Amino acid sequence: MEYVTLNNGVRMPVLGYGTYQTPPDITEKCVSEAISLGYRSIDTAQCYGNEKEVGTACKKSGIARKELFITTKLWGCHSYQDTLRSIDSSLKRLNMDYIDLLLIHEPTGDIYEIYGAMEKSYKDGKLRTIGVSNFLEENYLKLINHCKIIPAVNQVETYVFRQQQKLRELECQIGTKHESWSPLACGKNNIWHNPVLVQIAKSNSKSVSQIALKFLIQQGIMAVPKSIHAKHMKENLEVFDFDLDAEDMQQIRKLEIGNSLFGWW
Ligand SMILES: NC(=O)c1ccc[n+]([C@@H]2O[C@H](COP(=O)([O-])OP(=O)(O)OC[C@H]3O[C@@H](n4cnc5c(N)ncnc54)[C@H](OP(=O)(O)O)[C@@H]3O)[C@@H](O)[C@H]2O)c1
Repeated sequence: MEYVTLNNGVRMPVLGYGTYQTPPDITEKCVSEAISLGYRSIDTAQCYGNEKEVGTACKKSGIARKELFITTKLWGCHSYQDTLRSIDSSLKRLNMDYIDLLLIHEPTGDIYEIYGAMEKSYKDGKLRTIGVSNFLEENYLKLINHCKIIPAVNQVETYVFRQQQKLRELECQIGTKHESWSPLACGKNNIWHNPVLVQIAKSNSKSVSQIALKFLIQQGIMAVPKSIHAKHMKENLEVFDFDLDAEDMQQIRKLEIGNSLFGWW
């Protein structure tokens, strides 16, 4: 596993395991499988409804808490007090003393109040790092001009067809690391049969999924692919034994389509 060092010195695995739309009744099994295969970073969220099961799988794994990196995301918070309570409720569901990375899931509500409460909980030792998700340029800059602690991470829709080059350059200047959600474009846009990716996969003796993930992590972008199948979980982890050359990277850069495949942000 490779790690990215965040702006407060905390190290985060560059590759993690996503749990969006993983039903609670299979989350414990999936997360247990992912951890036993070697994943150490797990991405959940209050609105996924599976924090409790993620926490149980972590506890039962027998892996020391400090070897795991748990991300969760706030949902539906409005005020400072509200957010403090919400953080405690996540800690309770996860059954953990601290969260490695807490994100504001999306720029809604009073982001200054919400982020202020996250800064307080960070200082109190409940959170090892804090950040945001789905903050595109305008909202990201608004927060930067107001916050005391620069967000360590911005988790945004990012994959071969939507590369977020401009936002990434801005974050790099300010000191926020970029993280991809849906690093496999959730299978959209016929990604598995994209001729450029298929050809690069063939020439590197890898799969399309491994090429799509490597394109991100080779640029230091954290990624949290999701799969409920052990075969795919394992395949997605096997990306540290090769590098894409400059020509492959250039070919993939040309796959940018300039808009979202999800239409959320
Ligand atoms: N912050 C946000 O607003 C936000 C939004 C969306 C997602 N996320 C996070 O990002 C994570 C990943 O995003 P995602 O779940 O939307 O999509 P994704 O990881 O881009 O793609 C998941 C899809 O790809 C398939 N897949 C995975 N590995 C594969 C492989 N090696 N070969 C073939 N198919 C494969 C999965 O099917 P199988 O299960 O059948 O393998 C699933 O259908 C989420 O789980 C969540 O943690 C965050």
